[in-house]
Amino acid sequence: MVQLEPKNLIIPLPVTLVTVRLRDNGSVKDNIIPLSWVNNLDSDPDLVSIVLSKDKYSGKVIKKSRHFGMAIPGASLMEKVDLCGSTHGDQVDKFKAAGLSTFEAKAIDVPLILECPINMECVLEQIYPFGGHEMYAAKVVATHVDERFMADSKPDFSKIDPLCFVDGQYWTLGKKMEELFFTSK
Ligand SMILES: Cc1cc2nc3c(=O)[nH]c(=O)nc-3n(C[C@H](O)[C@H](O)[C@H](O)COP(=O)(O)O)c2cc1C
Repeated sequence: MVQLEPKNLIIPLPVTLVTVRLRDNGSVKDNIIPLSWVNNLDSDPDLVSIVLSKDKYSGKVIKKSRHFGMAIPGASLMEKVDLCGSTHGDQVDKFKAAGLSTFEAKAIDVPLILECPINMECVLEQIYPFGGHEMYAAKVVATHVDERFMADSKPDFSKIDPLCFVDGQYWTLGKKMEELFFTSK
């Protein structure tokens, strides 16, 4: 084994597209921020977390609106993801720049992303500050899966081809191996 400097080397992380909406004096500004430092936090109710570096434009919007959308893009959207991650929502309309289409969330006031197989609607519960980052814990209040990625009334993950983040690189998943706890069946 080679001992490296301490490093958070959890791989792979998912690539997600978090969507936010700023309403200000009658104007509406929608934005997309790619995030990979994300996690499931709890079930019943379902909670997720996202981690943003402090002072990010999208973080400021979430602090005001108290909710956000979270979409899971397929690997075919990699270029659009990268564009959204290298531009800033206070300067650029990323929906237009990336050529992504919206549909409206049902329970909260945010745009969701039509091209993404999975979209969740999330209501902010709490913010936990760390050194350079903040973790936003949020309740999932609605989940949408594009019918093209469903089979037998369930999401068909073999059709989704999610995009992964591996220490600064984009990867895709390989193939399905087994069902959880297959060794005890
Ligand atoms: C694949 C990918 C994953 C990213 N993950 C994170 C993350 O977890 N947290 C974070 O603060 N920034 C992350 N970023 C960087 C932000 O997406 C980037 O700074 C973005 O331009 C900020 O958008 P905004 O200025 O519109 O808020 C990621 C970027 C990419 C492309």
